[in-house]
Amino acid sequence: MKIKLLAAALTATLAAAAFTTHTAQAADPVKIGFLVKQAEEPWFQDEWRFAEQAAKEKGFTLVKIGVPNGEKMMAAIDNLAAQKAQGFVICAPDVKLGAAVERQAKRQNLKVMSVDDRLVDGAGKPIASIPHMGISGYEIGRQVGLGLAEEMKARGWKPEEVGALRIAYDQLPTAKERTQGAVDALKESGFPLANIVDAPQSRTDTESAFNAANIALTKQARFKRWVAFGLNDEAVLGAVRAAEGRGLRADSVIGIGIGGSKTALNEFAKPAATGFYGTVQISPKRHGYESSLMMHQWITANQAPAAVTLTKGTLMTRKNQAELVKAGG
Ligand code: GLA
Repeated sequence: MKIKLLAAALTATLAAAAFTTHTAQAADPVKIGFLVKQAEEPWFQDEWRFAEQAAKEKGFTLVKIGVPNGEKMMAAIDNLAAQKAQGFVICAPDVKLGAAVERQAKRQNLKVMSVDDRLVDGAGKPIASIPHMGISGYEIGRQVGLGLAEEMKARGWKPEEVGALRIAYDQLPTAKERTQGAVDALKESGFPLANIVDAPQSRTDTESAFNAANIALTKQARFKRWVAFGLNDEAVLGAVRAAEGRGLRADSVIGIGIGGSKTALNEFAKPAATGFYGTVQISPKRHGYESSLMMHQWITANQAPAAVTLTKGTLMTRKNQAELVKAGG
């Protein structure tokens, strides 16, 4: 009898305990950080906007923090922990901070996944234990190179008379892969490698690209026609503006960027075409909305995201931009 009573009491206690744990979990509000290296860039603004959409739909709190350098990034991670967030999505200011990001996230008991720029370890190898969502830099770069080659052909340009401006930011793996893809596609189209001119930028914004392009164009004044490519739309826009400064306009410059956010759309909205011929539109919606959903699923259902998710791109020009913008949301 005594034993029976004890067993019943124990069952009741266990049930109560289970109930308490369950309700405690359900009551814990989900909070997810979204940390980006360059908050002022339209691409990242779009990403945040789509992440907000996921937050609204799923009812979690999104904490957006700009992390322009390593110090701000570490402070942001600690700040998230203090706010009782459970995880964060990050595009770090320097991918070599990967090990530090992982260590700090573990210490603070936060789940972490990367977006856009894949984090690497001390030896420069991608950190496989941090799930990642981004583009295949090389494949998207190839689309840029192919687009340039086709437009040169359509205009009847002789490749040997054309310079190709590579706005370079080789310390960032995705940047290097993107421009390498473009170089390879140009080469396969019969473009002479000797005509490719490197213009290394010091940061990844339009101003740095403009400065880099100016130097290169001045040095290589023998070319009267140019194609231009780089990491993103900002890089190509800088190149286009620098070319304009030397009197090279839409009829003698073909620039193709990567992104398709406001930077490109503003250029297409101008009444007259500029040297900014096109961009490979990629998806801030997938990168912002989907990555946030993945993090939410990880936190609430303990389902970790796939190790790597790669998203695709489409060549966007003045001709098809309206329909592509509509399709991209
Ligand atoms: C990098 C670039 C951004 C954007 C994203 C897209 O982070 O710096 O401009 O192109 O990749 O993934």
